[in-house]
This record gives sequence, structure tokens and C-alpha cells, in this order.
Amino acid sequence: MPYLKPERPEKVNAPSLKTSKERGERLVCLTAYDFPTARIVDEAGIDIILVGDSLGNVVLGYGNTVPVTLDEILIHLKAVRRAVQRALLVADMPYGSFHTGADDAVRNALRLVKEGGAEAVKLEGGHKRVQLVKRLVDEEIAVMGHIGLTPQSINKLGAYRVQGKTASAARQLLDDARALEDAGAFAIVLEVVPREIASLITESVSIPTIGIGAGAGCDGQILVLQDLLGMDRDFRPKFARPFFDGERCVLEALASFDQAVKAGTFPALEESYS
Ligand code: KIV
Repeated sequence: MPYLKPERPEKVNAPSLKTSKERGERLVCLTAYDFPTARIVDEAGIDIILVGDSLGNVVLGYGNTVPVTLDEILIHLKAVRRAVQRALLVADMPYGSFHTGADDAVRNALRLVKEGGAEAVKLEGGHKRVQLVKRLVDEEIAVMGHIGLTPQSINKLGAYRVQGKTASAARQLLDDARALEDAGAFAIVLEVVPREIASLITESVSIPTIGIGAGAGCDGQILVLQDLLGMDRDFRPKFARPFFDGERCVLEALASFDQAVKAGTFPALEESYS
């Protein structure tokens, strides 16, 4: 698809997302972890850029998000901050950064905002996190909720599975979403939940829902950038449509480089100095 300059150049902020929902404008969200890609993602007009703890999977090679530290998020957040001008910049609160008491959580969230330049933080969990979300919002920190599949709970869950499949689990998700809205969250990520439940939640709250594996009824969609770019042929959950064959393209570029070096055709005369 040819690149056309986006039509919505105004800066995105947490309150403006609610207006987008009211206007029926779908929100387009992506992760980014470094300066050059964040610059491209921002230029493309993506509304929300998340420095997610998926960093652990797609950049640091941990295999899951559990080991990711606040300092690791901060390093990547600062790089992304230098690039982002229009999108709302959200930083994930990694596992362990909000589990040891509200004061610790506020201190850690403030580091993301003050040192890292995040405009909002995201944290996983529903009713259990409601008091904490209230506290963070009281401290002037914009908070994005995250319910459904919460990858930081992998050791408790045992596997990444669709959440909210029984009537009571679906009811709990709906209650969680309402409670997060009441606590002051400005948006909620819905991860890997049945599309009917995601649509019901979307209709039941006035703040935007951002879906990943939650169907087209959400107010916005988020993908992990590396999944969108098709960078890992071994990781293709059905919700993560690759919009590009990145792994193959990179391999082909590397093969061309290898061939050119071995054949002595790289560098050419015009690629060297006299
Ligand atoms: O860390 C992340 O990338 C996320 C998104 C999947 C929402 O939390």
C-alpha cells in the first residue's frame, strides 16, 4: 500500500482519545523500542506508541515479559521519546514495578514519566489494581488499563489462552473494565478475549478500548511492531497479521550483501573514496 501523509497531525493526548471514541474514529496503536523505528511509526500517524514489556520477547530474547525491568523499559523509552512528536507515548510498568505497594508503584511510574518522558503508563490487571490506578491518577499520572490475557501472569496462568470464555469470566472482565474506568483509566487494552465480550465492554465504557486479539469491535487496535512486520516466522498467533514479510526481506538483503562481498562487487568505485 503506498504511503500517504496522515490527515490527523494534531498531537494526541490522553483526553483526546475519548473524543476520538465519541467521534467513532478508530485508534491505531503500535509498540516501538528504538529511535529509528519510533520515528517512522510516529511519522506514519500512529496514535499511540507503547514501549511495551513485549520488549522482553521481541528485543531482549527473554521468551516472556516476566524478567523485564524498569531500567530496561527506561532505556528504550528514552530512545523512543527522542523520536516521537505526535503520538501519545505510553510506557509499560513491568512485572515487579507495581507489586510491592502503592508508594513504590508511584515512584516507578514517576520515573517513567519524569526520566523517560512517558505521557502515560500502562499496567496489567483489573479489580486488583483499581486502588492503585486511583492513586496514580491522583498523582497526575495518566493510566491505561490492560485486562484479558495479561502476559505478566504467565507463571500463574501456565499458558497464553483466550480469556473471558465462561459467562462468569466474561462478567468479571466487564466489571474490571467498568472499575478501571471509574478509577480514572483513560483507555483499556483488551488482550485475547472473545470478540463478542470485547464489543460488549467497548459499548459499556466511555473510554476507548484498544484490542489485541479481541476482534474488530474495539475502539482501536494495537500490535507488536515486530509481529506486524513479520519478523519471526515461528511466532504467528492468529490475531497478529503480518503486514510485511520482514524476516524473508531481511534474509534476502543479507544474502545479497554476502554475495556482493564474496563476488567483489561491493563496494563499487562510487562507494569508496579516492
Ligand atoms: O507489551 C506489549 O507490547 C503490550 C501490548 C501487547 C498491548 O502490552
